[in-house]
Amino acid sequence: MEVRKAVLPVAGWGTRFLPATKAMPKEMFPIIDKPVIQFIVEECLDAGIENIIFVTGRHKRPIEHHFDINTDLEKHLESCGKTELLKNIMEISRLINPIYIRQKEQLGLGHAVLVAEPVVGYEPFIVCLGDVILKDEENVLSRMMEVYKRFGKSVIAVFEVEEKDVSKYGIINGRYIEKDIYIIDDLVEKPKVEEAPSRLAIVGRYLFTPRIFEKLKITPPGKGGEIQLTDAIKLLLEEEAVYAIKIDSKVYDTGTPMGYIQTILDFALQREDLRDGLIKYIKSLIIETSEV
Ligand code: UTP
Repeated sequence: MEVRKAVLPVAGWGTRFLPATKAMPKEMFPIIDKPVIQFIVEECLDAGIENIIFVTGRHKRPIEHHFDINTDLEKHLESCGKTELLKNIMEISRLINPIYIRQKEQLGLGHAVLVAEPVVGYEPFIVCLGDVILKDEENVLSRMMEVYKRFGKSVIAVFEVEEKDVSKYGIINGRYIEKDIYIIDDLVEKPKVEEAPSRLAIVGRYLFTPRIFEKLKITPPGKGGEIQLTDAIKLLLEEEAVYAIKIDSKVYDTGTPMGYIQTILDFALQREDLRDGLIKYIKSLIIETSEV
């Protein structure tokens, strides 16, 4: 069956960014001039997925406004000849077919995915974390869909992390099948360095068979009292194969202050209009701090 829908859970509290996230979703934070969530939506659209199911919650309305057609703004940009901006703004809201559902209580990422079941139905679907941006030559979701086409089973994207960082991620224990493809035996959430079965960390892109919903329904609350997606995947593994695809993308976790700052810096350094000025400024900061 073809993959036609992506679920983007964006209902989390974003406590690491309080008080900014009290009324503004962290998924709407700008990476210079584009909100984080737009990068993820563009990744889905590039992979041919236009049915985007946002699992939202309180204070997440700006996301809905962002993907609406704003005719007043479009007229304004047209009248002042800002054609490039106009094109940019028009394109995304016309390509996307957004569907919004609410997670009434923030009971965890696994729960947020389960909330999407009535909209997804009994078909394979993608899940993208709403605060992780991937930068790659190739579209990771397209590659995941190719693996799904071959094996007909769930696929999880993983990336190689340094040994010291394994304790920050869900780590897979997998058997190598062929270049960049593994079959997963087990998952370990945030293991100690000496207990990690590999350095392959789950990155926030999943392609699931609808069987995951059955498992989410029986997943007890785990860490932090939340229904964890990883726990449901472990249950899924007892019944069907789950594959992992190793990606070489640059991974930007914008959900932490440090990750957010790094993302902005990297994206600014890649922009011709900002690069030189930023480098000059960073150099002056380094000189200042080394003088202290
Ligand atoms: P995080 O683990 O970053 O949690 O969620 P969070 O609550 O948003 O942020 P902190 O930890 O309080 O700072 C990863 C993704 O899953 C969504 C979030 O919106 C984010 O995009 N999520 C998380 C939900 O949709 N619902 C939840 O109950 C939890």
